[in-house]
Amino acid sequence: MGNNIVIAIDGYSSCGKSTLAKALAKNLHFIYIDSGAMYRAVTLYFLRNDIDLKDHEQIIAALHNIHLNFHSRDYQTHISLNDEEVSDEIRQMPVSENVSTVAALHDVRIEMVKQQQRMGRSKNIVMDGRDIGTIVFPHAQVKLFMTADPLVRAKRRFMELSPKNPDITLEQVFDNLAHRDYQDTTREESPLIRAHDAIILDNTNLTPAEQLAFAIGKVKPFLK
Ligand code: DC
Repeated sequence: MGNNIVIAIDGYSSCGKSTLAKALAKNLHFIYIDSGAMYRAVTLYFLRNDIDLKDHEQIIAALHNIHLNFHSRDYQTHISLNDEEVSDEIRQMPVSENVSTVAALHDVRIEMVKQQQRMGRSKNIVMDGRDIGTIVFPHAQVKLFMTADPLVRAKRRFMELSPKNPDITLEQVFDNLAHRDYQDTTREESPLIRAHDAIILDNTNLTPAEQLAFAIGKVKPFLK
């Protein structure tokens, strides 16, 4: 790693990782990269093209045909899949229900990690995900591991999803989160675990402003 600063944020689904990561990026003028959006976009491509997840050759060929790009406008995640903006579609249930399975595939992880490391080679970045402090940037200057009460997390995600998905229930969202937690922590490939040097941030009872102040306090020593 060069002189650039990397802030790695890992944790469970819907723990507020992206909210904190965006706020940090905005405050510090760092680049924000949502690694989960990359796995989601790959999942969308696999669903659309009916990729057989047991077929290594098909997966490799598909990965060659996938070109992801982030556009950072107003610190929101705008991600394009082969030049098509897919930021909204990757948040819908078909992708959410399949992304854990796709993110557990070795071939997919190898490719995504390579792209993520490239993005953090020379720039100051904040990246959130599940394996950022352990696998992608084991030498990140600041590592945060976020957790929160599961029901609080489900309610937060439900509030986010329900305006665009009027039929969705809190129970569905809760079950989807529980399922993803299980898959994320028990998969063989890069399971979600806290890096030994990551700072735990339980935000069940913290406001976004309190979390931001806490995180900035941890980054400050590294700013010139
Ligand atoms: O953060 P998210 O919910 O958008 O992530 C979507 C899925 O991608 C989630 O099931 C975990 C997986 N993921 C991963 O395996 N590694 C990452 N670095 C980021 C996300």
